[in-house]
Amino acid sequence: MTKPKLPGEVAAAIVNPVAYGAWEPLHEQLGWARANMPLGVAENPNHDPFWLVTRHADVMAISRDPQRFANGIRPTVLTDRAGEALARAATPGNDGHLIRSLVQMDAPDHMKYRLLTQSWFMPRNLKTIEDRIRQIARDTVDRMLDLGNECDFARDVAAHYPLRVIMDILGVPPEDEPRMLMLTQQLFGPTDPELNRSKEAITSSEQAIAMINYVIADFENYFGALTADRRANPRQDIATVIANATIGGEPIPDREMAGYYMIIATAGHDTTSASTAGAVMELAKNPALFARFRDWDADKAGVIEEAIRWTTPVQHFMRSAREDVEIGGQVIRAGDWLMLNYVSANRDEAVFADAFVFDPDRAKNEQIAFGFGAHVCLGQHLARLEMRILLEELLPRLSRIELAGEPARVESVFVGGLKRLPIRFAAA
Ligand code: HEM
Repeated sequence: MTKPKLPGEVAAAIVNPVAYGAWEPLHEQLGWARANMPLGVAENPNHDPFWLVTRHADVMAISRDPQRFANGIRPTVLTDRAGEALARAATPGNDGHLIRSLVQMDAPDHMKYRLLTQSWFMPRNLKTIEDRIRQIARDTVDRMLDLGNECDFARDVAAHYPLRVIMDILGVPPEDEPRMLMLTQQLFGPTDPELNRSKEAITSSEQAIAMINYVIADFENYFGALTADRRANPRQDIATVIANATIGGEPIPDREMAGYYMIIATAGHDTTSASTAGAVMELAKNPALFARFRDWDADKAGVIEEAIRWTTPVQHFMRSAREDVEIGGQVIRAGDWLMLNYVSANRDEAVFADAFVFDPDRAKNEQIAFGFGAHVCLGQHLARLEMRILLEELLPRLSRIELAGEPARVESVFVGGLKRLPIRFAAA
C-alpha cells in the first residue's frame, strides 16, 4: 500500500516554528489534514519523513500502545535529519537522546524511574503542599498589583508562578530561579530568536545542537552540586528523592539522574505558564466570563480544563513504530516515525462540539493536552491545582481586566503558548 503524502504546505507548516507562533493559519492546515488525510506522511527537505497524526482517536490509540509505539528508539521531539545525526554522534550507544529522562524511556526502565517520584505528584500528596502553593500565588498577585494597572501577564506573572512552585517542590532556592527559567526557555524555545541563548535566528542544526549542549551542561553542573548537597543533608524535597534513589540497589546513573532533574525542572513550568496565561487571556477578552469566575468559590474546573485544551502547551510528541501495525486505516511500518499532534487532536470536531469556541461548560472535556497512557503527564494534577489556586487568588482582587495590546505566541514547534499578553486591570 502506498503511503498518503500530505500536501507540501501542510508538511511545511507543521515543522515551521513561525507557523506555531502565528497559530490561526496552522489550524487551517491541521483542519484540512483531519478532514482529508488524518494519517498522512509529511515530507520536508530537512526531516526524515514522518506520519502526522491529527485525529484525537488515533493519538489516543497510539498513546495507549507503548509496546508498539516506542519513545526510546528515535527523538521524542521533532528533530531534523542533521540534528538527529549529530545527536546520535554525541550520545552513548548512539541513541540520539541528548537527555535521557522518563520521556525517552520505554519498558522496563520507564516505570521503574517513574515510580520514584510518582506519589509526589498525586492529589493526596499535593494536598499537603497546597498552603505553600497558595502563599506563592498570593505573593505573585501582590507583585502584579504593585505594577500598577497594566502589565505583560505572560512575562511578568505567568512565567514566574509555576516556576516558583516547581522549584519549591524540587528544592531549588528562589535566587536560582532566573537561571532555571532562562535555561528552560533556551531548551524548549531554541528556535525563537527572542528566547534562545544567542538571541539570533537559528539557521542550522549544528547551531541548535551546540546551543542545547551548552544548556544541558549548565543544568548538569547545577544539579550535580544539588545532588551532593542532598546526599549530605536530606530534606523534604524531590531533589532528595532523586539524589538518594536506587534502582536494583544501585544509585541512578549520572545521565539518568541529570535527565530526571531536567524533566521535572523544565516540564513543570513553561507548560503551566502557557495554560495559565491562556486562561487569563480568555477572561480578559470576555467580561461576562470574568464576572462569572471572579468569586472565590465559583467552580473553576471547567474553565481550567478548557484553557488547557485551548492552549495545548505541549504541541506534539513523537513516537516510533517497533513493528508493522495498522491504525486509522493505514499501515505503519516498523521504524516509521509519528508526530502525535495534540494541537490538532484538541480541536477535533469529532470529539469537541464547536471545537473552535472557548467553552468552559463542556459536559465532558476529553482534552488530551496531557497525553495519555504510560507516559501521561506526571504533573497533570499539579498543573490543574496551580491554575485553580492562582485564579482563586487573582480574580477576586480585580474589578476589571482587559487586553491592552496584541498578544504574541512563542515560535516553537514543541512547547508553545503566549510570550506576551499585555493586559490592563483595576484592583477590586
Ligand atoms: C498545562 C501544563 C502541562 C502540560 C500541557 C503537560 C503536557 C505533557 C505531555 C503532553 C506529556 C507527554 C504525555 C505522553 O507522552 O503521553 C507530559 C509528560 C510529562 N510531564 Fe507534563 N505537562 C504539563 C505540566 C507538567 C508539570 C507541572 C509537571 C511537573 C513536574 C510535568 C511533568 C511531566 C513529566 C515528568 C512528564 C514525563 C512523563 C513520562 O514520560 O512518564 N508536566 N506532559
